[in-house]
Parts: sequence; C-alpha cells; structure tokens
Amino acid sequence: MNRIEVSDQLQLVREQLKLPYIKSAAENCSPESGDWDYATANTKTETHCFHTYPAMMIPQVARRLINMLGRCGMTLLDPFCGSGTTLVEARMARLNAWGVDINPLALLIARAKTTLLDITLLQRHALCLLDSFEQDCQRIRKDPEYAPIPTFFNLDYWFKPSVSRQLSALRQRILAIQDPAVCEFFRVPFSETVREASYTRNSEFKLFRMPEDKLAEYNPDVGTMFFSKVARNLRGMAQLAQQAKGSTWVKVLQEDTCHLTSVPSNSIDLVVTSPPYGDSRTTVAYGQFSRLSLQWLGLSWEEVRSIDSRLLGGRRVVTLADAEHTPTLRKILNRVAKEDEKRALDVANFYYDFVQCLNQLCRVCKLEAKACFVVGNRTVKRVPIPTDCILIEIAERCGFEYIDRFYRNIPNKRMPHKNSPSNVPGDLGKTITQEHIIVLKKVGEGPKDDVN
Ligand SMILES: C[S@@+](CC[C@H](N)C(=O)[O-])C[C@H]1O[C@@H](n2cnc3c(N)ncnc32)[C@H](O)[C@@H]1O
Repeated sequence: MNRIEVSDQLQLVREQLKLPYIKSAAENCSPESGDWDYATANTKTETHCFHTYPAMMIPQVARRLINMLGRCGMTLLDPFCGSGTTLVEARMARLNAWGVDINPLALLIARAKTTLLDITLLQRHALCLLDSFEQDCQRIRKDPEYAPIPTFFNLDYWFKPSVSRQLSALRQRILAIQDPAVCEFFRVPFSETVREASYTRNSEFKLFRMPEDKLAEYNPDVGTMFFSKVARNLRGMAQLAQQAKGSTWVKVLQEDTCHLTSVPSNSIDLVVTSPPYGDSRTTVAYGQFSRLSLQWLGLSWEEVRSIDSRLLGGRRVVTLADAEHTPTLRKILNRVAKEDEKRALDVANFYYDFVQCLNQLCRVCKLEAKACFVVGNRTVKRVPIPTDCILIEIAERCGFEYIDRFYRNIPNKRMPHKNSPSNVPGDLGKTITQEHIIVLKKVGEGPKDDVN
C-alpha cells in the first residue's frame, strides 16, 4: 500500500485514548520468595511496558533486591541503567536513584519511564495528536510532499516512502510539543513505531532487513501502531502514579561509567545493575538496536554510529599483556588467545574498562553499601567466560567483598539463543541460559587508578 488511509482500527484506538485512566495498581502476583526465575510473571506492569530494549532486567529481580537491601529514602545507582527497569522499581520503593548510560535512546526511555506526568494532560495531548495526524494524512494524500521527510543515511533502504511520510507527519507534531517531559513521553512510542514500521526483522536486536520478497507486502499501519502504544503507555503511567508517591528523585545521566564524574563520592547506599556481558560488537549491539529511532529523533549519523564503540570494550586500548588483572581472567585470555588472538584482545579490553567502572563504583559507594550485579557467563571461541568469578576477583581488588549469590534460569530473555562460535554455518555454540546475581559489599577505599 502506497496510499495513506486512516484505518478503522485507528478509530478504535481513539476510543481507548478517551477512556478514563484511573490510577490503579498493577496486578502483581510475583512471589517475593522461592526461585528467582519468575517464569510466568508479568514483566510489563507500570511503565515497564513502555519500550523494548536489549537484555532488559526483569522488574521482579530488581524489586526483590531493593526490598532485601534497600530502605525508603536511600540512594540507589544503576551504572548501566539501559531502559531504566531498576530506576522504576527504585521510584516505587521510594528510594532516590541515579541512572547512568551512554546510549541516548536508553536515557530517553529511562527518563520517560520514571517521570510522573498528569494522565489527563497526556490524554489531551494524545487526542490532539490523533486529530492532527488524521488531517496530515488527508493532506499527504493530496500532496505527498506535505510533511518533509528527514534525510538520513540509508532511509529508503529501511522505510517504505509512504511509511516515511506518515512518520514525518507524526514526528513534526510530537517535536512541536512545548512541554519537554510531555514531548519525551510521546517520543518513546514514536521510537518503537519507527522500529516496528521499518523493514527490520523485529525479532532481532541487530539491524537485519526482511527478505526481499516480503518488502512489497509489508504495509504497516503507522497511526494504529503509534496510538495503540500511547494507550498502553497511558495505562502504565496510571499504574506508576498509584505506586510512586513521595518526594524521591530519579536523575538519569549520559555518562561513561568508567569516569562517572557527576555522582558524588560516598553518596550511594545501593547499586543494582545488569552490566553488558562483553563488547557490543560481539555480544549485544545496543547502538545498532537504537540507530533508526535515534536518526528519526534527530541525532546525526556520526553520533549514532559511534555509540557501540563508546560502550564497554568498544575500543582496543590495551594489549593482552597490559590487561591481565586476575588469575581467572589471565587463564581465560590465554585459552581464547590460542584460538583467536583478536577475540582475546576484545575480552581483555572489555575487562580493562570494567575495572575502571568498578573503581568508580567503589568511589561513589558509602562504606558497607551493597552492590548487586546480574551477570551471565558467555562463551568466546568455545571458551566459557566465567563472568561471575572474574567480576568477584576484580571487585575484591577494587574495595568490595563478596557476600552472596543467587541463580536465575532465564525463561525468555530476548538474547541470541544460538550463536556460532566459529562463524561456520550450522555450528552452534552454547548460549546464556542462567544468570548469576552477585551481591558485594564495599569494605575499603579501593585503588585510585588501574588495579595493575
Ligand atoms: C544489559 S544493558 C542494561 C539493561 C537494563 N538493566 C534494562 O533493564 O533495560 C547494559 C547497558 O549498559 C550500557 N553501557 C555499556 N557500556 C557503558 C558505559 N561505559 N557507561 C555507561 N553505560 C554503558 C549499554 O548502553 C546498555 O544500555
């Protein structure tokens, strides 16, 4: 379909948008004891429903750790906050929270998920946007040039022209919203719509285009996609409003956790985080996942393209000899290097950055503060990388003490389930099916510089 029509479904969504979004607590039946799997739990309550993101933590794990180790009024830090799962839980448990990430899309989602907004105001804006969108679609039918399409690298490769025109109309209306927090609220479902309406295979986090023969028949209904997400997010915001009372704050920062300059020393009571398991190029490509959305939201190609290389392990700054920090890591690097020296260098550089982060975490934590890391053990060139052991060894050198560990079987985490360790088609390696939840305590000042 290259025509642009306002569908019947969109009229149904209009009715949904008019419904009273009564502040109602989400039904939450997840047990606070027993295993950590939460295999059947609803992970999309409150604003957790907002936007999918690679390797999200499940809210139940963050909630349980915060309930176990946190107290109302404490200050929490998630130094790899991604889409803000931990921050939402901190907000509901009435803790103050810092969230840090490099990826601008993660920060947008995290801010929108933790900023309480008036539902009636949002509904008014949503209905206004819907009216304008319908008018715009009529105008575009008469004059396809009506809503100017932004120019960015490979736009036509990823979007059908009729889809680009509808996205342009929506984008123009959203960016014209004066109130910055309301504008952010609508940019989040817009970002999701961009991904869903593009030619990307939505089951993948990396950018892969649909097969050629599927392109012609792919005619997404942009309006219905966007406004259904708005209706869903309004429900989520109403549930959050019910839970998150009080005067606690959430601050979301764009920073590299290796430096963490904005968080004051000795200010943090609790860290709850799920760090990346390896560099973005060979594990989860956060930057690539965010690319199309961020380009539609106005970031330059250079900025967007550089995200993955700015994340942990994104640059090769140390040699294998420089980077051997702990006994386990040294053994692992030797084993990987025998198979592939470049991959060993990737692992070494990832842990080099990780050490800088742990030093920063030690600096910002109060004495006796607890730090919880949710990690998985991946394989590189068939060599299992015991991330849990390496994390504990590095942390002990940086001023933390290991105190506890829990295991979680991953029922449905959206991760690459099968990978090819050798890049030979059909040769599939092991993937991560279990997470380790490691609990540490700050016991010392830790070294000021590198632990070497
Ligand atoms: C596993 S994800 C976190 C997911 C998050 N728990 C959630 O539920 O959405 C790891 C995050 O670490 C971020 N990251 C990687 N390197 C970083 C660095 N040096 N400084 C700050 N954030 C970084 C990535 O952008 C990514 O969002």
